[in-house]
Amino acid sequence: MFTVRNQRVLTGMRTSSEEGLHLGHYVGALTQWKAQQDNNEYECFYLLADMQALTTHPGDPKALRESIRVTALDWLSVGLDPTLPHVHFVQQSMVPERHALAVLLMQVTRYKVLMRNKTLQEELAGQADASVGFMVYPVDQAADILMVCPPFGVSDPRLLVPVGRDQESHLELQRDIVRAFNAMYGNILLPCVALFPEGESAGRLVGTDGSGKMSKSKGNAIYLSDPANVVRQKVMGMYTDPRKLAVSDTVPDTNGHPVFIYHRLFNPDQGWVEQASEDYCTGKIGDVPIKKKLIPVLNDLLDPIRAERARHEALIRKRPQYLGEIVMRGTEVAGKETKRVVNEMQEAMGIAYPNLRKKR
Ligand code: TRP
Repeated sequence: MFTVRNQRVLTGMRTSSEEGLHLGHYVGALTQWKAQQDNNEYECFYLLADMQALTTHPGDPKALRESIRVTALDWLSVGLDPTLPHVHFVQQSMVPERHALAVLLMQVTRYKVLMRNKTLQEELAGQADASVGFMVYPVDQAADILMVCPPFGVSDPRLLVPVGRDQESHLELQRDIVRAFNAMYGNILLPCVALFPEGESAGRLVGTDGSGKMSKSKGNAIYLSDPANVVRQKVMGMYTDPRKLAVSDTVPDTNGHPVFIYHRLFNPDQGWVEQASEDYCTGKIGDVPIKKKLIPVLNDLLDPIRAERARHEALIRKRPQYLGEIVMRGTEVAGKETKRVVNEMQEAMGIAYPNLRKKR
């Protein structure tokens, strides 16, 4: 019989990109997810946050469907393995109890507490015409986490959420909501624990244009699905240090230089990187050789991911429902947990048929 452990990891990604995931996702999230999976201590739930995608990108069902597909395929390509008994891909929209959970949480979430959320404040400021669904998405995200809340009273329950720093205020809100709920109804829900990626550059990988975080909207991303020739093109076009015009120009350091940042993160030969950085600063080499060296470094990193993607694509060609079945299986496991959580909440809250309510 297969059992669901009470130590759980739940994390997710908004499915809002048809291009799929890029190196920023890889260093900021996926390597950590993979390590937790391989660690094999936790029940791991990876959420395809398609409801959350709807809060910002409604009205394009074709794009949404495609982005769910490519996100799941990217996860498989980096070695997340839902054939393992403790690993589950979960489609957010497909768990009806999760929607119920979110609405129950809304009843104990003070408006003032929600509006204190820094991330929400910033995002609302950038949106002229936000939907109500968007305004409550942080509560919805608390429901995502609580979908797989371990049962109260088991020994050593854990609810870990590996995310980037930008999600910090959402996790704080989850804890605020849990506190409010438990204060009213008794200890039923578990506050989550955040796991942030180590290292500054890992949490916020700079884009190829050096202008800030790698992102689809900025057009400065190298995608996990980019073929080798595209990687070459993108690397050769990367932003370089404007203080260095000729090879012989000297510069004080290479800390903010995106080509060096990628070398430091991805090049297995760090001795070479250190020497190259010194030669670059002292005017012995220019940008071309360090870019040329970065191309095989990135392609070596991406090759196994490409191979794994090709393997899964072949499986999908043979069996078109392959991907959907993987997601359905994981979603069912999560849904069972969510059903239990919602039942407990409803009982505690006094929502039950008259005279049919079980005695607790
Ligand atoms: N907000 C996350 C993002 O922007 C995605 C997400 C949705 C999530 N629900 C979650 C992350 C629950 C962690 C836990 O990518």
